[in-house]
Amino acid sequence: MKKEILQQIDYFCNKIKQFGSNNRGVDWNSEEAQRVRYDQLSKILSVETSEKDFSICDYGCGYGYYFGYLKERGYHCQYTGIDVVTGMIEEAKKIYGEEETEFVVGSEIAGEYDYIVESGIFNIRQEISNEEWTQYVIGVLEEFNKHSNKGFAFNCLTKYSDVDHMKDYLYYADPCFFFDYCKTHFSRNVALLHDYEIYDFTILVRK
Ligand SMILES: C[S@@+](CC[C@H](N)C(=O)[O-])C[C@H]1O[C@@H](n2cnc3c(N)ncnc32)[C@H](O)[C@@H]1O
Repeated sequence: MKKEILQQIDYFCNKIKQFGSNNRGVDWNSEEAQRVRYDQLSKILSVETSEKDFSICDYGCGYGYYFGYLKERGYHCQYTGIDVVTGMIEEAKKIYGEEETEFVVGSEIAGEYDYIVESGIFNIRQEISNEEWTQYVIGVLEEFNKHSNKGFAFNCLTKYSDVDHMKDYLYYADPCFFFDYCKTHFSRNVALLHDYEIYDFTILVRK
């Protein structure tokens, strides 16, 4: 397994053990910010809320809270949550396992989905260099592109964060670089959302 992924296991395994299935268990400062990110990512879903037949892969799903959010919003979909941490998937299954969900431990995307989303998987870089981490992010985005039919959406911390709040072990991406990368490699229809206050941005790639 790639070192980038191994270190995620290490980091997030401890979080879910320590805090359980809530925002702190997936290392978000607040539930509100967790949901603001979902609001942005969900803009990729160009479907009526009553429409049932779309499939979605939530890559790095944590305890599956995004499924709960979608359900609350009236979405009915075929939801697959993938997470590399077994403890996350165990929690997700406890909470949402009885519903129309599939939860998988791992980091491989098998099959195709209408949409793929991720929230927060690119943030914890630790000792890996910025350059290497950027290549890692690109590799994951290539997979999203390969396995999604209608589009995908992802977020990253932004390099436009306030310097006194920035931390050495986090990855602060350049939104302009990723906008350009997506536009020139994946689709003509790309949106960069960077107007929602918290220190990250979301990119929507619509096919
Ligand atoms: C910041 S948490 C966010 C969880 C969830 N998306 C949410 O917003 O509640 C990131 C999650 O992604 C998982 N993760 C990170 N890299 C991954 C990878 N390459 N494949 C699968 N899961 C990954 C971590 O284990 C962790 O549960």
